[in-house]
Order: sequence, then structure tokens, then C-alpha cells
Amino acid sequence: MRLTGRVAIVTGAGSGIGRAIALGFVKEGARVVAADVNLAAAQETATQSSVSGYVIPIQADVSRAEDVRRLMDATVDVWDQVNILVNNAAIQLIGRDAPCAELDEAVWEQTLAVNLRGPFLCTKYALPYLIRAGGGSIVNIASPTGFDKGAGFTAYSTSKGGLSTLTRVVALDYARHNVRCNAIVAGATETPLITSLLEDDETRRRLEALSPLGRLGKAEDLVPLAVYLASNESSFATGAHFFADGGAVMQ
Ligand SMILES: NC(=O)c1ccc[n+]([C@@H]2O[C@H](COP(=O)([O-])OP(=O)(O)OC[C@H]3O[C@@H](n4cnc5c(N)ncnc54)[C@H](O)[C@@H]3O)[C@@H](O)[C@H]2O)c1
Repeated sequence: MRLTGRVAIVTGAGSGIGRAIALGFVKEGARVVAADVNLAAAQETATQSSVSGYVIPIQADVSRAEDVRRLMDATVDVWDQVNILVNNAAIQLIGRDAPCAELDEAVWEQTLAVNLRGPFLCTKYALPYLIRAGGGSIVNIASPTGFDKGAGFTAYSTSKGGLSTLTRVVALDYARHNVRCNAIVAGATETPLITSLLEDDETRRRLEALSPLGRLGKAEDLVPLAVYLASNESSFATGAHFFADGGAVMQ
């Protein structure tokens, strides 16, 4: 097992990719705090864990500093340390996010608050604990929309571009403390986040066609990469983006 003895915080662990990563970490021996704004969803993740008592659900809105501080303190109260942070929680306001001139300011504010302020706050308040533990690993869940596939979703894509930059800046600033920070660039993945897009057959086919493999991702597809980046196996990797997008990056 590759994460034995480690304590991980996974944000947005009540659904989709975050839930899959939380459960995958437990299978590798980690103890996990499943943080989510939706407590019932985080509790369901704990229920699905293969090892009882290894997932603690905590309600936290990552865009609120007081929630994030409470999340870190609660984790250390229970398990004494933080070794891994997965900044996964995000929203995409499909149907309201839009090209720039049509974008409602409130949609911009809400999206940036969760998707960029959230990872900033979680990183900021986890760092002292990661440093105290002698180092650690931060894994950010990025998106091709943060590079060149962002058209039509100004707020979401900009938030993900910011997260990619945050990944590199944190990697540079904290390497001397043995804190590594990397990003997984997830391709279109079948989760509740994009359910409304996938209901339209034409959009589904277009998203499937983005990948030369001809299919959408599953949340479980991202777990081995997350385990690798969280573990010592990736000890020489920092500030890097790892693509798990079905090859869409080549198109
Ligand atoms: N699904 C995709 O196609 C896709 C593609 C690229 C990147 N991503 C990224 O993967 C990550 C996970 O997405 P997903 O598809 O699993 O989404 P999802 O909607 O299935 O899960 C997101 C979870 O985050 C939680 N959440 C939302 N706002 C929160 C907040 N303020 N504080 C705490 N928790 C909050 C939700 O309650 C939910 O449980 C996101 O960062 C997303 O941007 C997803």
C-alpha cells in the first residue's frame, strides 16, 4: 500500500472525482477527511469506504476562510497531521457561464470564489501543517478549459487557468520545505458536474470525440494518477501538469 500512515484532505469528496480519489486513497492505506459543502454527500462517501473509520466526513465550504481553518484544525485534532491535500471541489454553472460580454458578474464571482479562492484558502491553511509534517503533496484538479479548450465558459475556464498558475507558484515557493504541488488535467469525465451537458446527445458525441480514445472519462480513471502524485513515487515531480484526458490534448 502506497499511502499507509498518510492523512489526506480531499475537497469536494461527496461526488464524482473527489469521491473516487478519497475511496482510492483509503485502499492505499491513507486516512481521509472527505470535505464537502454537502455534508450528506460526504457522509455517503464515508459509508462507501472499504475500511471503516478511515473516512471522516466534514462539512466545509472551501470559499469561506473560517470553514477552511476549521477543516484543517479538525483534521489535525483527529489525526495529528496533514500530509496530502487534494484541491478538487469546484462548480461549473452550465447554462449561466458564458462568453465574456454576456457573462453575469455574479456567475463570475461565484465560480472564482469556489474554484480559485477555494484552492488558495485550502492551500494557505494546509501549508503550515504540511511543512510541520516535513513535507507533503498537493494535488490540484485542473482542466483543459484552463488551457485552450475554454471557449464559452469564461468564469470556469479562467478559474481553472488560475489554478494551473497557483500550482506552479506554490511548487516554486514551497519546494524548499519538501512540499510538492502538481495538477491533474482531467478530460471530460462523466460526473454530476457535466450531467446537464451530457443530456444533449450532440454535445455528448462532441465531448466523446475530443478524445482519440472515443469515450468520456470515468472518475475512477483519475485515481491511479492521484495516488501516484500523493505518494513518494512522484518525489521528483513538482509544478507539473499530468494529463488524463483521453488524449484530447493532442487534438
Ligand atoms: N467532470 C469533468 O468533466 C471534469 C473535467 C475537468 C476537470 N474537472 C474537475 O474535477 C473536479 C471534480 O469535479 P466532478 O466532475 O467530480 O464534480 P462533481 O460536481 O461531481 O463534484 C464536485 C463536488 O464538489 C462539491 N462542492 C461544490 N462547491 C463546493 C464548495 N464551495 N465547498 C466544498 N465543496 C464543494 C460538491 O458538493 C460536489 O460534491 C473539479 O475541480 C472539476 O472542475 C471535472
